[in-house]
Amino acid sequence: MSHSPITPSAPSAASPPAASGEPAAAGRATWGSRLGFVLAAAGSAVGLGAVWKFPYVVGAHGGGAFLVVYLGCVLSLGVALLLAEMTIGRLTGKSATTALRELGGRHWAWVGRIATFNAFAILSFYVVVGGWTVAYLQRAITGAVLVADTERLVSEFSTFIADPVASLATMGVFLGLTCLIVAAGVQKGIERAGKWLMPALFLLMLLVIARALTLPGAMAGVAWFLTPDFSVISGSTLLEALGLAFFSLSLGAGMIVVYGSYLPKDAKLAGSAVWVATLATLACFLAGLMILPAVFAFGVAPNAGPGLTFITMPAIFAQMPFGHLVAVAFFLLLLFAALTSAVSLFEPVTAFLIDEYQWRRGPAVVAVLVATFLFGAPAALSFGVWSDVRLFDRTIFDLMDYVTVNLLMPAGGLCVAFFVGVRIWPLARTVLEDTRGQWFVPVWRALLLVLTPVAIVGVWYQSL
Ligand code: TRP
Repeated sequence: MSHSPITPSAPSAASPPAASGEPAAAGRATWGSRLGFVLAAAGSAVGLGAVWKFPYVVGAHGGGAFLVVYLGCVLSLGVALLLAEMTIGRLTGKSATTALRELGGRHWAWVGRIATFNAFAILSFYVVVGGWTVAYLQRAITGAVLVADTERLVSEFSTFIADPVASLATMGVFLGLTCLIVAAGVQKGIERAGKWLMPALFLLMLLVIARALTLPGAMAGVAWFLTPDFSVISGSTLLEALGLAFFSLSLGAGMIVVYGSYLPKDAKLAGSAVWVATLATLACFLAGLMILPAVFAFGVAPNAGPGLTFITMPAIFAQMPFGHLVAVAFFLLLLFAALTSAVSLFEPVTAFLIDEYQWRRGPAVVAVLVATFLFGAPAALSFGVWSDVRLFDRTIFDLMDYVTVNLLMPAGGLCVAFFVGVRIWPLARTVLEDTRGQWFVPVWRALLLVLTPVAIVGVWYQSL
C-alpha cells in the first residue's frame, strides 16, 4: 500500500473552478493526496479516546487482553463501518445529510441531520476536555503541574474544572484553535493540520515512551500490558471495547462520510480504511506503552480511571528525571490529538451548512463556533457552578456524553450498516470492484448486516 497521490487531475481547493458541476458551491474541495486523507482521518480517530480513555480502560479491564479485543473490534466492525461511511461520502461528494438524501431519498436525510447534530453535540462537550488539555499544557510549561503530592493534584484539578472563568476561557481557546484550522479549508487547514500534527503526535509519544521504559521497574508494566490474560475478559469488557472502538474510529456521526466526500471519484477506499484503523490501534497501543509502564514504575494503581491523565501522570512526571520536558511533550501531544479530532467534529457541521444551505465556509465556521460555545458552556459549567443540575440522575456533561456516545452513535452506525449493506448495496459494492479486494465484498456485507447489528444491540444492552 503506497501513499501515491491520487488527485493528479483534481482541482486545487485554493482556486475554485466551476468544475464539479455543482451549482451551489464553487467547486468541491478535495484532498491533495491519499496520505493527506489518511492522516486527516487518523487525526480524527486518534484523540482523547485513544490517548486519554484507552489507557484507563485498559487499566480497569485487566491489561493486554483488552488490547486484543479492541483490535478485533477495530479490524472487523471498525473497518467495515469506516469503509461504509467513506463509500457514502465518495459516491456523492457530499456531507451526510445531502449524501443520504441523494442516495436514499428524503427520509434518509433525517438520519444525516441527526448524525450531524450528534457530531455537534459531541463537539460541544469534547471542547471542554480540550480546554483542560490547553490548561495543563500551560501548567506543564510553567512547571506548575509538577507536583508529587497526588492529593494536591486532585484538589487543583477539581478546583480548575469547577472554576467557571478558567474552564470557559480554556474551552474558548481550544475551540478557537479548532475553528482556525477548519476555517482555512480542507487542504490548507484540515489536511495540513493532519500532516503536521499527526507525525508530531507520534514522535512525542515515542519520546515519552522512551523515558517511561527506561524507568526502573517499568518492565513490569510492559509485561502486564502485553501479556493478555483472557480470563479477565467478560461480556462487559467486550462491550467496553466495542464502544471505544466506535468512538475512537469516529464512527456513526457522519464524520467519515464528510472526509470521504473530499476524495476524488477514483480513490481506492479499502486500503485507506485499513490504514486509518491501523493507525488508530497503533495510537492506542503507544498510549498504553506511554502510561502503563510509568504507572507501574511508581507503584500507582493502573485503574485510577479518568484522572489517570490529569492527576496520576503529573505526579509521576514530578518524580522522574527530565520530568518537566516529558510533561510538556505529554500535554502537547494530548492537545494535538484532541485538536485534530475536534476539527473532524467541527467539519461535518460546517459542511452541512455549506452543502444544505449553500453557505460560504467563513460564515458557516463562525456560526458553528458560536453555537458550539453556547452549547458547550453548560457542559463546562456542570463541573462546577452547575454541578447539581441533574437530568436523569446525570450532570449535563455526563448526559451529553451518554446520549451522544451510547445512544446516537451506535444508532448512526446501525443506520449506515443497513443503508450500505441493503439500501444501496448494488452501488456500494462497486467501490471495491476495481481492486484486488474482491474477496472482501461478501465479508464486508456480512460484517455490516450480521456482526454490526449484533454488536450494537449488545452495546445498547450494556449501557441501558
Ligand atoms: N475519535 C475521537 C477520539 O477518539 C473522537 C471523535 C472525533 C469522534 N470525531 C468523531 C467520535 C466523530 C465520534 C464521531 O477522541
